[in-house]
Amino acid sequence: MKNVDNKVVIITGASSGIGEETARMLAANGAKVVLSARREDRLQKLASEIGENAVYLKSDVVSLEDMQALVTLAKEKFGKMDAVFANAGIMPAGNMSQLKVNDWNAMIDINIRGVLNTMAAVLPEFTAQKYGHIIVTSSRAGLMSVPGNAVYCGTKHFVKAMVDSFRSESIQEGTNIRTTVIYPGAIKTELLNSVAESEAKNMVSQFYENVGLTPDVIANAVLYAVSQPDNVAVPELVVCPAMEG
Ligand SMILES: NC(=O)c1ccc[n+]([C@@H]2O[C@H](COP(=O)([O-])OP(=O)(O)OC[C@H]3O[C@@H](n4cnc5c(N)ncnc54)[C@H](OP(=O)(O)O)[C@@H]3O)[C@@H](O)[C@H]2O)c1
Repeated sequence: MKNVDNKVVIITGASSGIGEETARMLAANGAKVVLSARREDRLQKLASEIGENAVYLKSDVVSLEDMQALVTLAKEKFGKMDAVFANAGIMPAGNMSQLKVNDWNAMIDINIRGVLNTMAAVLPEFTAQKYGHIIVTSSRAGLMSVPGNAVYCGTKHFVKAMVDSFRSESIQEGTNIRTTVIYPGAIKTELLNSVAESEAKNMVSQFYENVGLTPDVIANAVLYAVSQPDNVAVPELVVCPAMEG
């Protein structure tokens, strides 16, 4: 069992998949978790399962005000904020030639603007206290470019580039805010639900079915990063099925 020292961690995308499992694992190891997503019933169920070390707020990462409300809630309920897991994301697929412009914009709003809103909400506090940890879910799609997911790949590359730059800025500014970018491979969650039925989706689903991992492996990576001593950074972690090339 790893000790996360009563750390207070905000988690976006906590209503399912990686975020949900991470909340469970961090709380089981002593953290206090602030759960964020749009599906309130799911958050309520998870919070009551975890008990007094969890609190939740129905919130949309597209709204900066919603993200700021999470920070307020963390401080009101637990008195402080140590880390944030900016994890909410969507992955509707399709070739660029299909011109699914609404999907492109939704990914920009959630996968890019959502991460920026989450950072904008926590940074004033982290900067003032000269301490904090920002963990962000990119993807192996943030390290390579694949057909059928061009905009998704772009959003996940953005996360890597932005957090890399921010990490250097924090070092220069002496604000001591650590960052961890996680690059998951195929993890069995609800992520593929938003992909329209197609031959490509069937192939991806089959791959996930055959070799995909359960979300606890990513939760474990987050736990590893969050439980390190204050002078140890874990800037990046790639976690994928052994059979994923
Ligand atoms: N599964 C994989 O193979 C895989 C691989 C690489 C990277 N990732 C990344 O991992 C992250 C988590 O995905 P997952 O696999 O756990 O899929 P998931 O089960 O579909 O979870 C996605 C989460 O994001 C939340 N979300 C989506 N839009 C939101 C919004 N506008 N505001 C607030 N929350 C929002 C969803 O909650 P609500 O719908 O309730 O709001 C849900 O909790 C994503 O960033 C994804 O890109 C996943």
